[in-house]
Amino acid sequence: MKKLNVGIIGYGFMGRAHSNAYRKVANFFDLQYEPVLKAACARDAKKVKAFADKWGYQSIETDWRKLIERKDIDIIDICTPNNTHAEIANAAAHAGKMILCEKPLSMDGPEGEKMVKVVEKANVPNMVWYNYRRTPAVTLAKQLIDEGRLGRIFHYRAKFLQDWTINPDLPQGGAGLWRLDVKAAGSGVTGDLLAHCIDTAIWLNGTIDQVSAMTETFVKKRMHNLTGKVTNVGIDDACAFLGRFTNGSLATFESTRYARGHKALYTFEINGEHASIFWDLHDLHRLQYFDHKDDSVVRGWRSIHVSDGDQPYMKNWWVPGLQIGYEHTFVHQVADFLQGVAKDKWAGPAFRDALETQYVCDAVLSSAKNDRWQKVKHAYK
Ligand SMILES: NC(=O)c1ccc[n+]([C@@H]2O[C@H](COP(=O)([O-])OP(=O)(O)OC[C@H]3O[C@@H](n4cnc5c(N)ncnc54)[C@H](O)[C@@H]3O)[C@@H](O)[C@H]2O)c1
Repeated sequence: MKKLNVGIIGYGFMGRAHSNAYRKVANFFDLQYEPVLKAACARDAKKVKAFADKWGYQSIETDWRKLIERKDIDIIDICTPNNTHAEIANAAAHAGKMILCEKPLSMDGPEGEKMVKVVEKANVPNMVWYNYRRTPAVTLAKQLIDEGRLGRIFHYRAKFLQDWTINPDLPQGGAGLWRLDVKAAGSGVTGDLLAHCIDTAIWLNGTIDQVSAMTETFVKKRMHNLTGKVTNVGIDDACAFLGRFTNGSLATFESTRYARGHKALYTFEINGEHASIFWDLHDLHRLQYFDHKDDSVVRGWRSIHVSDGDQPYMKNWWVPGLQIGYEHTFVHQVADFLQGVAKDKWAGPAFRDALETQYVCDAVLSSAKNDRWQKVKHAYK
């Protein structure tokens, strides 16, 4: 196996999820390239050293620019807050590195457009971590839709519900709480949670042409951790939108961090002419499937336990009946990325695919602000 040296930036939630994937992927997938944990980068030398030692990185950097300059790094993996993605990705592309960037691609569409331009001009492999596509049950949903089993699609319904920001005393900004600071996050639940739902929806059901949205910021002022001052909250705490897909089906999406009792309830349901499917992140190895063509006396929702060798990704894991989990979606993404590089047919979602999602997020926020339907710009002509 040829080696590809990874330089990861950020040691938080995603830094750990990605590192775990790089460590496991070559054990479970047959690959031509093997990722090597070459360097970890973050601003705090002591903390990044502790992270590097725990996960097996060979070296550390405290300035991402130095990491990008290094000749021994092939892949730059961006696991930092949203407001840093563009600058790091653009510099990495200029240096000819392959790039894996966390979602959302950018702070907004215009920033994303520039990133797409830079990365496509540099012609380097590029991918965005919309990892839910690689949940075997979600990949199976894609297969069933592409085979035409659902027929014409009428409805796409998605939700992503959490409850962790209800406390009005929770500050905004800084480590762990940058998601509440609009200058670091770009938006609230729209870019953080709905972006996942939108990416999956576009992948499964095609592009969205127009949206009508409402957003709310329930807690309007919070103390900012970096300044100590109480300042306005600029993010959307909740967002709901209606939309029309290019294929004529109707979209209803909802996300909030104020749904008491829900920690990460990502669900989607698709209703087609012949069949429907439903998926729930809390039960991620199952795909619920209703086929109207079944004999009426036994017709009903089937709960497909996606664990068999002929179901997506599963032959690489254990024996049929034994399930896998959240972290494996990242392993699958790395496997597909490396296989794409080997075949010179890069796997998606590319930066341009993620730009399409960014355009939907922009349209949603603009619709909510202006109180009217908004057309969605498209990333592909
Ligand atoms: N794909 C997913 O399901 C998923 C899940 C969570 C987060 N994310 C995305 O991943 C990114 C990171 O989120 P997280 O939850 O891991 O955040 P986190 O707060 O847990 O970690 C962020 C890391 O970035 C580092 N960092 C911040 N600014 C930096 C800089 N200028 N230079 C170097 N390091 C810097 C911090 O020290 C920290 O290690 C975000 O873009 C987020 O939207 C994606």
